[in-house]
Amino acid sequence: MLIAANWKMYNGPAATAEFCLGLREQELDGVDVVVCPPFVSLAVAVQLLAGTEIAVAAQNVHWEDEGAFTGEISAPMLLELGVYGAIVGHSERRQHFGETDESVARRAHRALEAGLFVIACVGETEQERERGETEDVLRRQVSVLEADDNLVVAYEPVWAIGTGKTATPEIAQEAHAFVKTLLDVPVLYGGSVKPDNADELLAQQDVDGALVGGASLDLESFTSICRAAPRS
Ligand code: 13P
Repeated sequence: MLIAANWKMYNGPAATAEFCLGLREQELDGVDVVVCPPFVSLAVAVQLLAGTEIAVAAQNVHWEDEGAFTGEISAPMLLELGVYGAIVGHSERRQHFGETDESVARRAHRALEAGLFVIACVGETEQERERGETEDVLRRQVSVLEADDNLVVAYEPVWAIGTGKTATPEIAQEAHAFVKTLLDVPVLYGGSVKPDNADELLAQQDVDGALVGGASLDLESFTSICRAAPRS
């Protein structure tokens, strides 16, 4: 089971340091924990979590190693910092920053090639679900990815992100099973995962972990989600 904290645009270096010092003290044996702070907080997270089993990942990564790409960060830069992996294709990137299946594929491909662990996000919008297009959307988004030992997919239905509207365990299970027919990789669930719904979601056969947004900002709620993960 993998439980990842996507902090989005929260937690600068000082807040990250405080969180990581607290996280170090927790007993989280038997679950793989990843924190994904904003770029400016990666260094302090890597430093303070060194010597623990907790990994640090970025929230995005570019497909070129260097170049005239203002505002972007490359895989070798992340590796130089001691960062373990990166999220790519989060729906907020697709929605607000023009990220496409092609750009997500390029980012994932280069990051994996460089040796990073990658969490690639997919998921349908509410309208797409209502129109019965969920499987088509997932097929389109997943088909650009190639299976890799260092790749996991996060199924994040857009209608469940930051809305408090969680997918039912049945909806999550169905989507995860479908994604696995397309690509043989672990699939995390994301979208309003909270301490009180984590057990049920994580108990589903094809739910291999969670990508947690809002509830990962509070140490207590994040660690209680980590503890809800069935031990393998
Ligand atoms: P919330 O847990 O805040 O709904 O966010 C989910 C998410 O986008 C994780 O990447």
